[in-house]
Amino acid sequence: MRVYAEKTYDDMSKRAASVIAAQVVNKPDCVLGLATGSSPVGTYKKLVEWYNAGDIDFSQVKSVNLDEYVGLDGSNDQSYRYFMDTNFFNHVNIDKNNTYVPQGTELDEAKACGNHEAIIKKLGGVDLQLLGIGRNGHIGFNEPDDHFTKDTHRVDLTPSTIEANARFFANEDEVPKQAYSMGIRTILSAKKILIVASGEDKAEAIAKSFFGPITPEVPGSVLQLHPDVTLVADAAALSKVKDIADFKNV
Ligand code: F6R
Repeated sequence: MRVYAEKTYDDMSKRAASVIAAQVVNKPDCVLGLATGSSPVGTYKKLVEWYNAGDIDFSQVKSVNLDEYVGLDGSNDQSYRYFMDTNFFNHVNIDKNNTYVPQGTELDEAKACGNHEAIIKKLGGVDLQLLGIGRNGHIGFNEPDDHFTKDTHRVDLTPSTIEANARFFANEDEVPKQAYSMGIRTILSAKKILIVASGEDKAEAIAKSFFGPITPEVPGSVLQLHPDVTLVADAAALSKVKDIADFKNV
């Protein structure tokens, strides 16, 4: 796998944006798998900057998101649809009809999840999947468990994730307790994966994901099975990795 060890969050964001830009330049009608959360905010910002400078064109790009809270409508400012619109889609020339986020308002689990998988299939699969990682090693909302879930599914969020997300809500009680998330097979089906990580509180998840056993207890560890992973991380997120050179053997 490839690792870019960057100094700061800004450096990380610029590097991650350049990997995405390269994908879009190489295949203008590519399918991007996208993530929300604080880790990729800077990456989206950079892409918007380069779009405004005339350096990148999203007109033919399609996108599909990893996850969405169950029950939240796209106009709810805590929904992941809202996040994508305000952080990225509203500021570039992507056709919003070509952007897909799991439908939080569809309460029928089979329908919501089946639709998301069908969309990915119809688009021909994801070319580049952007991921963040949770402090507990979750990817998408695949939380630590005793098994892997393959396809898009409904998840009960763990107390640690609810607590981590509470910073975006007035209080912890308002944080949705369930989400729809791509499954592990959905994520691993992407042709390329780009994972961004920043900060000390991600250091353990990064070390365990890439140098620990492949286990559903650390969902990010499945990335060791993917043939084309790029990790872009800042120094703090890499602080529990003994030697950056070891990534060559992952
Ligand atoms: C978001 C997602 C989550 C986040 C993870 C890290 O779409 O799927 O797995 O990537 O919770 O979140 P941040 O970046 O806020 O630390």
